[in-house]
Amino acid sequence: MSPEVMRSNYSSLKALVSAAQSCVLCDGLSATRATVVVGHHPKGAKVLVVGEAPGAQEDETGEPFVGKSGQLLDVVLEGVGLSRATVAITSVVKCRPPKNRTPHAGEIANCAPWIDRQVELINPLVVVAMGSVAAKWAMGKATKIGDAHGQLMSWRDRELMITYHPSAALRFGPRGMPLAAMREDFTVVADRVGV
Ligand code: URA
Repeated sequence: MSPEVMRSNYSSLKALVSAAQSCVLCDGLSATRATVVVGHHPKGAKVLVVGEAPGAQEDETGEPFVGKSGQLLDVVLEGVGLSRATVAITSVVKCRPPKNRTPHAGEIANCAPWIDRQVELINPLVVVAMGSVAAKWAMGKATKIGDAHGQLMSWRDRELMITYHPSAALRFGPRGMPLAAMREDFTVVADRVGV
């Protein structure tokens, strides 16, 4: 659906969340998912964090980032004075890919109108794209996290921070570079929104 049609069809997050629940644009994902994980939308969020796609626990509960990656995200957020109470959270793809495979290009394209409209409706000051799928969605092209992270960029009338996905931080461990980079990047974001 075009941005104009998305805007006229979905004038509130409530309407968007409800419609997304019955999305069947991806034959495969809609057949295997348990839930559509649209997002976590606290009122007035100035930060929107975007991941890749739900995993098993998110698919089960319908809530984004509640598994191991989500627990680490919570620790990083709280370390810089942010929290789930004030930060909106979603993923580029709203349905779990089987065996947690990377979403296919067609699935990402099918899901893009949802997240693009979600950004407009949440209206955050800063969007944080975590990992290569979210970075590609935001930048419109493959983007190396190592090169792009660290500074806020001007983006769609707001600002964008690219950072590592918490699954990379988990893979490299507590002394690894991705976790240190995430902490630094979220510190910049927290400073920007006045935390
Ligand atoms: N990873 C993501 O990118 N999103 C989730 O919701 C959970 C894990």
